[in-house]
Amino acid sequence: MQSISKTLLNLRKSLEQSCDLSIQEAETEAAAILSYVLGISRTELEIKHNHSLTSKEYEKVKNILDLRLKDNPLQYILEEAYFYGLKFKVNPSVLIPRPETEILLEKAVEIFKSLNKKQLKVLEIGTGSGCLSVALASVLKKKGYEFKIFATDISREALRVAKENAINNSVQEFIYFEYADLLPKKLINQKFDLVISNPPYISESEYLELCSTVYKEPKLALVGNKSPNGLEYYYQIAKLPIEWSHTVMELDPSRADKVKEIYGELGYKTISFIKDLAKQKRFIHIFQDISREQMSNN
Ligand SMILES: C[S@@+](CC[C@H](N)C(=O)[O-])C[C@H]1O[C@@H](n2cnc3c(N)ncnc32)[C@H](O)[C@@H]1O
Repeated sequence: MQSISKTLLNLRKSLEQSCDLSIQEAETEAAAILSYVLGISRTELEIKHNHSLTSKEYEKVKNILDLRLKDNPLQYILEEAYFYGLKFKVNPSVLIPRPETEILLEKAVEIFKSLNKKQLKVLEIGTGSGCLSVALASVLKKKGYEFKIFATDISREALRVAKENAINNSVQEFIYFEYADLLPKKLINQKFDLVISNPPYISESEYLELCSTVYKEPKLALVGNKSPNGLEYYYQIAKLPIEWSHTVMELDPSRADKVKEIYGELGYKTISFIKDLAKQKRFIHIFQDISREQMSNN
């Protein structure tokens, strides 16, 4: 039977050649597959590099590779993904959490520090796997805040996964998952310290150009049910009948200025962008210190 190091090398080569991955991506996936099958950490893989795999372990590795070579994202095959250092269950009913979305979470934490309040109320629209709400709850819990997070989604399957993730990360008592088209009736007219969202923002025409692994993710999470031009969700979220102090949303950098215009036209003045690691405008932050009623009276 093959050693760990030889299996890693073969896996890396197959992934690199067949899945159009860079050497680094292929190395990361190869290590993820082996540490999953052997139930050991990536560091242990290095320490035990001369160990031989049993035939059963080798068979498992081969099955995973076969699925991966059929364009299934590795996270769906292993049913797990990591976000902000936490482990999340994922399956094809939820978007795989993207590393850049962690920047939104960091912004949320920064906002809470600036609010200087101990009691917080948050709304997340389109929670998917629950990665944002669960990670946020985990941070706020550690910092000793009193808080409630309302997390909505229009996919019942996604909400099931999100609830499981809240339980697995021990934050279920802080998050109220709601099945809703953006906002459930019971939250109308409520006031939130922060609204967060990574809404579907891919247009129908852009969807046709995506790479094949992305087609395994739910179209509802990418294009949504109301966003043929990639902007509709921003209009609708801006017009929700709620009050809030801060809104932070992820967006497509090519439409960042259009999203700013939407909020600008509605009278919001304090609007800024947060850039991703590629220095692109990836998030928008809107702040208001007066209620919507007061704004429309001005
Ligand atoms: C881009 S995914 C974001 C998931 C997760 N928050 C993340 O950042 O990985 C968008 C999510 O919005 C949900 N969604 C789409 N249309 C919706 C609607 N009208 N109301 C509520 N949620 C919606 C999708 O089901 C999906 O889970």
